[in-house]
Amino acid sequence: SPLEQQLKDLQSFQVIAHRGASGHAPESSMAALELAHEWGADYLELDIQITADGELVAFHDDTLERTSNGEGSINDHTLAELKELDTGSWFNEAHPDLADSAFEGTQILTLEEVFNRFGDDARYYLETKSPELNPGVEEGLVRRLEAYNMIETGRVLIQSFDQESLLKIHDLNADIPLIQLVWYSPDEADDERLTEWTGVTPAPGEISDEDFQAVAEYAVGLGTNYRYDGEEVIDASFVASAQDNDLAVHVYTVNERDEMQKLIDWGVNGLFTDYPDRLIELVE
Ligand code: G3P
Ligand code: CA
Repeated sequence: SPLEQQLKDLQSFQVIAHRGASGHAPESSMAALELAHEWGADYLELDIQITADGELVAFHDDTLERTSNGEGSINDHTLAELKELDTGSWFNEAHPDLADSAFEGTQILTLEEVFNRFGDDARYYLETKSPELNPGVEEGLVRRLEAYNMIETGRVLIQSFDQESLLKIHDLNADIPLIQLVWYSPDEADDERLTEWTGVTPAPGEISDEDFQAVAEYAVGLGTNYRYDGEEVIDASFVASAQDNDLAVHVYTVNERDEMQKLIDWGVNGLFTDYPDRLIELVE
């Protein structure tokens, strides 16, 4: 079945376009998604949030200021209010070398608009972002994935840093492949974050087979950082241990060619990148 094929594909290397080709165009915009799709990225990655009137939109931050001309929490606004905002001009100001007048007036996208544009011709890697600020996002997401027939057709992965959010999705539809995101740190001070996702407190810098197995109970893979405060926190043996416990390993967010190559050499199953063009060039 297509879903089995998707799971099989996860064993090989996946190019994950982080917020689209967000190194080239405003993040989470149709322009960024079009580029990633055109270049042949395996997955379009988007962060999903819920508007004040219950619509699902693709937007990374909890607040509007950084990537739009709006103010305040995204969740306090209706879709109609959000559609008034310009989510592209900030990019032109931040990256004069990449500025394009076509980016001015870029609108926030709903999940439906993304599905209507790319449909069965893409795979989607959707994150339930800040689920505590987005109550109901899991139900809304699963309902839309079912309506658009995205699950049996092997079109979607759902990722979250929040284990509870993933378990909610698993309860709603056990066929959806899930990726547990972690923000991994070797320091004792950060143990709490590890406890959050595994329920087990590992020794600093170590994740045991039991920790990986606890995640493999409900998820098909792990999405992890690679550096913490500039320092490398995972290595080839971390990747191998996760894989030995049936977890695919995807690493975020890797934009430099030498780092991409190193992680590929460690045998990771995919990379989140703002430059899918660079990564595709490397893996081809
Ligand atoms: O989803 C993987 C990576 O995107 C997690 O970090 O903050 O870019 O959503 P963030
Ligand atoms: Ca994300």
